[in-house]
Amino acid sequence: MDGYEKLLEANKKWVNETLRTDPEYFDQFSGGQTPEYLWIGCADSRVPAEAITGAKPGQLFVHRNIANQVIHTDFNMLSVLQYAVEVLKVQHVIVCGHYGCGGVMNALTNQNLGLINKWLRHIKDVYRMHRTELDAITDEEQKFRRMVEVNTLEQVTNLAETTIIQKSWAETGFPILHGWVYDLETGLIDELVKMNSTETLEPIYVYDFDEEKRLRR
Ligand code: CO
Repeated sequence: MDGYEKLLEANKKWVNETLRTDPEYFDQFSGGQTPEYLWIGCADSRVPAEAITGAKPGQLFVHRNIANQVIHTDFNMLSVLQYAVEVLKVQHVIVCGHYGCGGVMNALTNQNLGLINKWLRHIKDVYRMHRTELDAITDEEQKFRRMVEVNTLEQVTNLAETTIIQKSWAETGFPILHGWVYDLETGLIDELVKMNSTETLEPIYVYDFDEEKRLRR
């Protein structure tokens, strides 16, 4: 059997086993979804959102890309974010980075990787912003781990700097933003930061929604 066929076989087995324990299991999904969390994680195959959090189908709205980036011109991420916050009204947005992240590792080199250079450029910017702290770490592994952490922290800040989050914070006080880091070697997740609507942001990134109304008149 080809490798990919194993996946289809496993799917049939999963359906059979699931229906054996709960014949109505799939009925719960026909009426739409009400996930409580948006997960923004790395595309890395070793960091499956549901498996490492014990989440069930219907609980996580998921967006994954290389190195869990929140880039303010990425319409894919922004569309997911807007839908999750405005329509699904998720209460929590989780950015989950992971130690050993290949995207972060490659961004710290001078390799020319073609198209992906453009994506990794954002991570190089994170390194530049934190260069003093990072370059003071002499142990290369520790430096890499800290880079993974600051990359995650910056993505949470990037979320807070979107109008999508700020508008929702002004209207409902939600969602709460979380920066997590997953350790491939232990399977454990650490919470690095939690941000809510009381967060003080760099003033230049704070949007004035009253002003928006005034300009529309
Ligand atoms: Co990664």
